[in-house]
Amino acid sequence: MCGIVGIVGTEPVAGRLVEALTRLEYRGYDSAGVATVNEGVLERRRAEGKLFNLQKKLADEPLPGTTGIAHTRWATHGVPNETNAHPHFVEGVAVVHNGIIENFSELRDEMKAEGAVFTSQTDTEVVAHLLAKYTREGLSHRDAMLKMLNRVRGAYALVVLFQDDPNTLLGARSGPPLAIGFGKGETFLGSDAIALSPFTNQIAYMHDGDCAIITHKGAEIMDFAGNPVERPRQISQASAFLVDKGNHRHFMEKEIYEQPEVISHALGHYVDFANHTVNAETGLIDFTGVSRLAISACGTAYLAGLVGKYWFERYARLPVEIDVASEFRYREMPLSPDQAALFISQSGETADTLASLRYCKENGLKIGAVVNVKESTIARESDAVFPILAGPEIGVASTKAFTCQLTVLASLAIAAGRARGTITEAEEKELVRHLTEVPRIMSAVLNSIQGQIEQLSRDLSKVKDVLYIGRGTSFPLAMEGALKLKEISYIHAEGYAAGELKHGPIALIDENMPVIVIAPHDRFFEKTVSNMQEVAARGGKIIFITDAKGAAASNLPTMATIVLPEVDELIAPMVFSLPIQLLAYHTAVFMGTDVDQPRNLAKSVTVE
Ligand code: F6R
Repeated sequence: MCGIVGIVGTEPVAGRLVEALTRLEYRGYDSAGVATVNEGVLERRRAEGKLFNLQKKLADEPLPGTTGIAHTRWATHGVPNETNAHPHFVEGVAVVHNGIIENFSELRDEMKAEGAVFTSQTDTEVVAHLLAKYTREGLSHRDAMLKMLNRVRGAYALVVLFQDDPNTLLGARSGPPLAIGFGKGETFLGSDAIALSPFTNQIAYMHDGDCAIITHKGAEIMDFAGNPVERPRQISQASAFLVDKGNHRHFMEKEIYEQPEVISHALGHYVDFANHTVNAETGLIDFTGVSRLAISACGTAYLAGLVGKYWFERYARLPVEIDVASEFRYREMPLSPDQAALFISQSGETADTLASLRYCKENGLKIGAVVNVKESTIARESDAVFPILAGPEIGVASTKAFTCQLTVLASLAIAAGRARGTITEAEEKELVRHLTEVPRIMSAVLNSIQGQIEQLSRDLSKVKDVLYIGRGTSFPLAMEGALKLKEISYIHAEGYAAGELKHGPIALIDENMPVIVIAPHDRFFEKTVSNMQEVAARGGKIIFITDAKGAAASNLPTMATIVLPEVDELIAPMVFSLPIQLLAYHTAVFMGTDVDQPRNLAKSVTVE
């Protein structure tokens, strides 16, 4: 992951580099650094921890210079401390890097044998050493860069500053994104257009295998063999405004409460509210003759895809093959061009999801992207883009992106059902009518359950382990509930298909183990209640998330029963997401963790 930025400017750049880093902090936040050339000398400031620490350091020891590079880190190689923070310096070469150099250990041994002294534990330092060696051997900066790029293997975006050429930066991309920004007499490099948005909206996206040399005059772009390539300039829509928390304590809380509004936006894009039909935006992929649908994604986006699988199979009778992208990409799954594939990603930059997409593309499949960031790599490499329109999601734990992904997938499944003749016009109207009710129902739920969830979270914050169970689409929701709780409260949690309980996890149940049962009164309700009985019989504490009908139908003792409105099976996953998100949120607040930036995580995962 990590965020990188560089500026060839006309005025001191340190402040602007740090400003750009504030927009890239979602990519990592365990240390940060900035380097400039001033009066022919490379200088840097680096600090462990959040960006705030670097800002304090720069306030005490300002950094002059009109050309510079900067980095916010998510550690891969080497612990997050100041020594491992970027930029890395070797003999007048400064490097910032996002990604992983896979052959770094072999290169480091080779350089060490030649006498190089390494000061950090990072993989990045070999890049600086190789560049220093090639320039020592007499190569120009350009040729040293190209030679280095042909030696390193892995996934990387790099920005390099040479002490003896303070008017130039060199950038390269092989995997993680890198964009070039064009200003008035100034040129920029950055991990995304949002980072550069305060400076310019004129952007060219580098492709994999591109190397760029940027100066005050603009950019020269070439492949790694040095052959010139053209990358079109586009006007970026990325907003220059940093979103704020409004009246909320955390971005995550704000994003949970924003869901009715953003789901309305998403619905406005995909359905016709007056006629209760899906609209043309859902038709960008023709599902009529598709024999099978492949879905791939990571984390929460994968769990949205898993809910989608139930919908595509039920409403469109379309078989779905789904896997987490880190497995999908290496499974050597047989594919044929009569299949279609959907890739779900909030950021649109997740490395494994992108690799799965490319695998499907090579096999001739029609590719659809369900993304939040429309300018992302995954969106740009897809045949059809289905934006989820959630707006910027800042909290690392995904909430509104999840329910917007569900909204888009539900619309697509209905569209596929119509195209394949597996649902009638009347059924389409009925399903879309249910979808259009989601924002209103969610608002009502958010207003009604807050107090009860806060109370319950106080108890939950004292436990060590939690189980979540559900059937049908409540099974992926159980996994999502567990993921949310563990990532922000650090309480161990697992989500299981309720029917799987007796195949192993039931052994864990005792009077200290809360079991969260997600069970709307649907086709599976009675079966889930049987599983609840099994938990109760073993002294497990049940937190029952159901609807009024479900609450009336069960008389089992519970630690708490959270009662939601009765809704159609299609929209239950959106509505039932709210209590599991709020439970995780309030539990984490009680425990005093860093809710928006939990330990060890980052919002955009651009390494495998
Ligand atoms: C969990 C979470 C992650 C992401 C995953 C994929 O709350 O946010 O599990 O869902 O890293 O990220 P995207 O959607 O950007 O591909």
